[in-house]
Amino acid sequence: MPATVVVGTQWGDEGKGKFTDLVAKEMQLVVRYQGGHNAGHTLVVDGETFALQLVPSGILYDHITPVIGNGVVVDPRVLIAEMDTLAAKGVDTSRLRVSGNAHLILPYHQEIDKVSERYLGRNKIGTTKRGIGPAYADKAARVGLRVQDLLDPKIFTEKLQVVLKEKNALLAKVYNQLPVDLDSILAEYLDVCRPRIEPLIADTVNLVHDALEAGQQVLLEGAQATFLDLDHGTYPYVTSSNPVAGGACVGAGIGPRHIDRVIGIAKAYVTRVGAGPFPTELFDEIGDHLVDVGHEYGTNTGRRRRTGWFDAVMLRHAVRLNSLSEVALTKLDVLDDLDTVKVCVAYELDGERFTHLPYHQSVVHKVTPIYEELPGWKTDLSGITERKDLPRQAEDYIAFLEAQLGVPIGLVGVGPGREQFLHFAA
Ligand code: GDP
Ligand code: IMO
Ligand code: MG
Repeated sequence: MPATVVVGTQWGDEGKGKFTDLVAKEMQLVVRYQGGHNAGHTLVVDGETFALQLVPSGILYDHITPVIGNGVVVDPRVLIAEMDTLAAKGVDTSRLRVSGNAHLILPYHQEIDKVSERYLGRNKIGTTKRGIGPAYADKAARVGLRVQDLLDPKIFTEKLQVVLKEKNALLAKVYNQLPVDLDSILAEYLDVCRPRIEPLIADTVNLVHDALEAGQQVLLEGAQATFLDLDHGTYPYVTSSNPVAGGACVGAGIGPRHIDRVIGIAKAYVTRVGAGPFPTELFDEIGDHLVDVGHEYGTNTGRRRRTGWFDAVMLRHAVRLNSLSEVALTKLDVLDDLDTVKVCVAYELDGERFTHLPYHQSVVHKVTPIYEELPGWKTDLSGITERKDLPRQAEDYIAFLEAQLGVPIGLVGVGPGREQFLHFAA
């Protein structure tokens, strides 16, 4: 059976967790394909909130096998803490499987993430300081340690000894920091983490292919988003992996012919945490209103998110980059109280009009958004579960976005709860 990808289309926090959980109902496997615990995916089920970082969003269904794919970077200490939190809420995590090829985040990755951000000063990226970038850098430099190294303490120790020589020289001589201690890492990773992680380690590539061959449905859950993509995002204000749908092939170990559905998750407005260009950013009371009503504070880091109007230029680019087959529009209810809602349909700079994202980023930094203004609906949408009950203005807003993007909007979110959505597709 074919696979489905869920991908963020903006700068993250679009509601991927909620919609992965929703779509997962019909699936058998949910695979996280990139990122690490920089992600924060929120599910609200029967009034209870689950904030997932590494564990795939299908975990709440008994019939799902949640898989952490080879493309993810795993801090085993965080994974264990997350499994314990879920277990305390009565969730069975024993079905979780972790790729042996996934790379490990080690304590020096976090140290380097923090200190290098400090050195960047006002040019800092605003990372989550979780060690994500340094772990992916080590993977590319071929000095990373992988989850499977936990299975062989001798190899783990040897690799760590080699890499610590360089990391400690860097920390001490360049960054003027204390070195990290080999023995304490060995104690934490081999003595404490290994017994908990070992039973989860699996050949996840064959697990996924066996499922596909058996006619099962596989859902590939992206973290971060299209414009945080290392290749396609607003570099250098990006994450260090490939969240775009193509990244799902690499990060799960399947070829592109297996994927026949790509669901792009888009907020009905835009948010961003961390630095970087944001053409439709609002610095007025409407921006504050979106923060307040949308509770726009980071799921993990608690940082206030920057907010702005829906940007159709970005989204059209996301449609192309990901081959989106449909869009799920989230948080429409957050716009309920507004008199009018704006949509950026093009950019303008020095008399030139851009309907597609300018490739030169200096242009993106300077453009002025061109807006279409639509009437608001001034109605509480949070209880609406059928398209026919939507106020006309809300229906018109969604139809306007559909026309701008050129792909159907299949699902619309009207609240954080699992049941707070409606099918929009005709
Ligand atoms: P993710 O990283 O893409 O999974 O998104 P986050 O979980 O970080 O942030 C999305 C936030 O919006 C979470 O607090 C969700 O509970 C919430 N949310 C998701 N969909 C909706 C929706 O349709 N309406 C409202 N009001 N909140 C939503
Ligand atoms: P989810 O999956 C929003 C942002 C950080 C920073 C940049 C690089 O919940 O949508 P990193 O720590 O990855 O090196 O930081 O990326 N960022 C996110 N923003 N949602 C996320 O994940 C993010 N993960 C990273 O704020 O700007
Ligand atoms: Mg999030």
